[in-house]
Amino acid sequence: MSLTTVNTERYAQCIAASRRVRWDIDRDVIRARRLDLSKPFLPEGLSRIGRLEFLTPTERVRLSQVQGRTYANMFGLVERFIGIQMLSCSRRHWFGDQVALEALVRFSDEELKHQELFRRIERLAADGMAPGYAFAPTANAVASQVLEASTWAVLALTCHIELFTQVHYRQSIEPSADIAELYRDVFRYHWQEESQHVILDELEWACENARLTPRARDAAVDDLIALVGAIDHILQQQATADAHYFAHSNPRAFSTTEAERIAAGVLDAYRWQYIVSGMQVPRFRQTLIDMTTPAQQQRIQAALLPLTN
Ligand SMILES: [Fe+2]
Ligand SMILES: [Fe+2]
Repeated sequence: MSLTTVNTERYAQCIAASRRVRWDIDRDVIRARRLDLSKPFLPEGLSRIGRLEFLTPTERVRLSQVQGRTYANMFGLVERFIGIQMLSCSRRHWFGDQVALEALVRFSDEELKHQELFRRIERLAADGMAPGYAFAPTANAVASQVLEASTWAVLALTCHIELFTQVHYRQSIEPSADIAELYRDVFRYHWQEESQHVILDELEWACENARLTPRARDAAVDDLIALVGAIDHILQQQATADAHYFAHSNPRAFSTTEAERIAAGVLDAYRWQYIVSGMQVPRFRQTLIDMTTPAQQQRIQAALLPLTN
């Protein structure tokens, strides 16, 4: 077992909550429904489409659907490495606390189910939307790259993602009355199971943090910065692809300036969704402050600055 004592009670609470909310993709979430293409998918708080004042109401709806399709695909992407990382973390409990082991096995099982849910949503989106959309990154290639980083950095990134999942749902998706009903339900059910994941991320991250020497932690901070850079690289490519798809499937042509503003607006929204909004979550900031030195915190802040708009 590791240097830290396992808090069995907290793992047990996660198992109990996980049992209580457990849902089925078809019976509870999809219920033979289709995505309503007359309504937006991703709400304004995440899509930031309001800044593109030259778009018509119909174009805004369509751009929110393009972004919303990518939002679902991005979760399908990151949950591959999150699930594998949690299976890897479970190793330290194999011959130890069986409650902690069960909690992490349930976590991984839920992420496998979520990946299937997001594949189903992609198929439903493809059914109704114009042809030509492509989600370029592949889950296994990204997972292979991410999992080469130190465990501390991967757990930090995981905790960040699972915290912003909560915040996005509670602050933006839940209160938006106008978005497609099935789309909101997907993220409501997802949020319910993710609530336990955040607690487990924090427990595993703290356990890993306690194992590290100051020198290893310093290297792990660099790994985290590199991981954020790798995510940003994916966002740049996907924002370009999505802006292109949106503009080319739109009935009216956009001017060069308008097309450039759409591309910049989509990249800004993606950086907000997948990097900046999570880094601003007070619970994440505090955990990071507790684990790192002021010099390390400054390094992280400096790396994030160019991504903030
Ligand atoms: Fe998930
Ligand atoms: Fe999760």
